[in-house]
Amino acid sequence: MAKQRILTGITTTGTPHLGNYVGAIRPAIAASRDESSESFFFLADYHALIKCQDPQLIRQSSREIAATWLALGLDTDKALFYRQSDIPEITELTWVLCCNAAKGLMNRAHAYKAAVQSNEEAGADPDFAITMGLFSYPILMAADILMFSAQKIPVGRDQIQHVEMARDIAQRFNHNFTEVFTLPEALVSDGTAVLHRLDGRKMSKSYKNTIPLFLDEKTLLKLINKIKTNLLEPGEPKQPDDSTVFQLWAAFASAEETARMRREFEAGIAWGEAKKQLFELINSELAGARDQYKRLINDPAYIESVLLRGAERARQHSSIMMQKVRAAVGIAAL
Ligand code: TRP
Repeated sequence: MAKQRILTGITTTGTPHLGNYVGAIRPAIAASRDESSESFFFLADYHALIKCQDPQLIRQSSREIAATWLALGLDTDKALFYRQSDIPEITELTWVLCCNAAKGLMNRAHAYKAAVQSNEEAGADPDFAITMGLFSYPILMAADILMFSAQKIPVGRDQIQHVEMARDIAQRFNHNFTEVFTLPEALVSDGTAVLHRLDGRKMSKSYKNTIPLFLDEKTLLKLINKIKTNLLEPGEPKQPDDSTVFQLWAAFASAEETARMRREFEAGIAWGEAKKQLFELINSELAGARDQYKRLINDPAYIESVLLRGAERARQHSSIMMQKVRAAVGIAAL
């Protein structure tokens, strides 16, 4: 039976935090161990250019994200792990898809619409500060996905629309030319909580105020102690379900441990005590990987070699796909 192909990209504009780990990295690495599937994970550094004009930050983030996945035990002999910009066929395909994707479809992309709306609200020109990169973002993402005939695309909710657009673009291409592309599907894992920020808002790369994954113990403890709670005293029952402390606990603990903590909340555990236990739990899961991360982050040459090897493997697929695409549209030797 053919293996199911899973693919996901990580935009290189930040430092991985606990929310990324729980919601994306940990489940992706676990899935990549499954023999019935084949995983493609990549650093979406060309996507990063859309939101970030700081070269230093993009380089730093690429290094941190790669070191993070390796430190957490991604088996790069099995999974393909590469950097988008090392696969020139992806940008080539992006152009071909640009010539196929309807502009009207792109007009409906949430990220673009939100940018227009905030300009309008500010009384500015609707196109103010909107680049063609932002507008065409879903097409680059479609190229990432369609290039490797990926079937399942694990993403956060905010990216579902982009995967559906990739599917639309693939369908249109297959219809206009020949059946070249596999139709992808978004895979949204509901089991993993969307973590909240320390102040209770959603933990996302675009906000500050998250807990980076590989802090030293002291800083980790400090940030956990800073998680916003209410003023309920020890002994007063606490509501677990709207608490960031409990949410994080549930993301790291077993089902039994989670049930126990729920009872402790209801019995009025002190916030200080709950946070202390939370620190110990998270720290014990991450301590080994943190040591590994420290070694890796100081060995960029090694990380680079892993990425280049991944790119070499990925290009075995992308060069064949690009040949098919070119042939389909009539870009061919005479
Ligand atoms: N746009 C995705 C995000 O911001 C990252 C990404 C780029 C991606 N290319 C992809 C995700 C292809 C899945 C598949 O999270």
